[in-house]
Amino acid sequence: QVWNPAGKHRVVSTKPMPGTRWIGLLTAAGCRVEVCTENKTILSVEDIRSLIGTQCDGVIGQLTEDWGEELFAALRKAGGHAFSNMAVGYNNVDVDAATRNGISVGNTPGVLTETTAELAAALTLAAARRVVEADDFMRAGKYEGWIPTLFVGNLLKGQTVGVVGAGRIGAAYARMMIEGFKMNLIYYDLYQSTRLENYVTAYGEFLKSRREVPVTWKRATTVEEVLGEADVVSLHPVLDKTTYHLINKERLALMKKEAILVNASRGPVIDEAALVEHLKENPMFRVGLDVFEDEPHMKPGLEKLPNAVVVPHIASASKWTREGMATLAALNVAAKIKGYPVWHDSNN
Ligand code: DGY
Repeated sequence: QVWNPAGKHRVVSTKPMPGTRWIGLLTAAGCRVEVCTENKTILSVEDIRSLIGTQCDGVIGQLTEDWGEELFAALRKAGGHAFSNMAVGYNNVDVDAATRNGISVGNTPGVLTETTAELAAALTLAAARRVVEADDFMRAGKYEGWIPTLFVGNLLKGQTVGVVGAGRIGAAYARMMIEGFKMNLIYYDLYQSTRLENYVTAYGEFLKSRREVPVTWKRATTVEEVLGEADVVSLHPVLDKTTYHLINKERLALMKKEAILVNASRGPVIDEAALVEHLKENPMFRVGLDVFEDEPHMKPGLEKLPNAVVVPHIASASKWTREGMATLAALNVAAKIKGYPVWHDSNN
């Protein structure tokens, strides 16, 4: 699909993206916009090379694509110098390879903070109150009447929420759980972010001024401390060498038997095979997963476990956010083409 065919700069989007603002933005910047409508969920490097073709100024790509040396070299050869991921995470992008080829890399932080945190909260609640199991039960016609022992789950109020990775999304999630459910907080941040510290201090003062029961909070010095103390742990780090399999067999063993683990960051942060074993051995341990180690697949066995809530990487999937992500991605590419600075920020 092509917009503004006579545009001076050729920009390719590897996928149709929501809304039309992003197209308007690029066409206003004098771009011819080509959107790949190929009916294939994940494009290969070869597919993308042929989309780039022999002349291309910029590309908007997706987190399912492998943007390394080969694609950036192809883009440079086609005269391009702008790339943006339509995602805040860019573990699928080799930024050094882009830099070597003189191509800027943009991402889309900010617009997905609350939406992603809300999904992490939804997974927390679904796991705590066994919503999916109960829904399955109801649909299967198994409900024969109220009994005191049916789908008993965990109360969040007064329990401790552990946040690993206190960037924008982790901090927004912590705020939701503290203010919404009066949970106490323990958090660990790999980049020593002070975002949460300032917030919890101010919120504590606010509760005190209203003579309400205060929430407690603690900044942990290790991930282990969070895992050992929290009743709910939500993971929000970026995926890199230091966070690959951050949650492994040994660390899972540190968690409480009835704890809840939530992951809406990146799948490989958890050793998924170890998680499946842990869930099998600990039926009261529950997990809410938006992301998987080898998407679109999940580790065999996970699909059968009632103590797992699984959704297909939809944390940022609200209309407002997805349109915002598309607009930011377009802005990154248009800015570079027009000679302005590109938004690029790893602090999510
Ligand atoms: C991102 O932007 O990194 C998200 O994973 C997309 O939902």
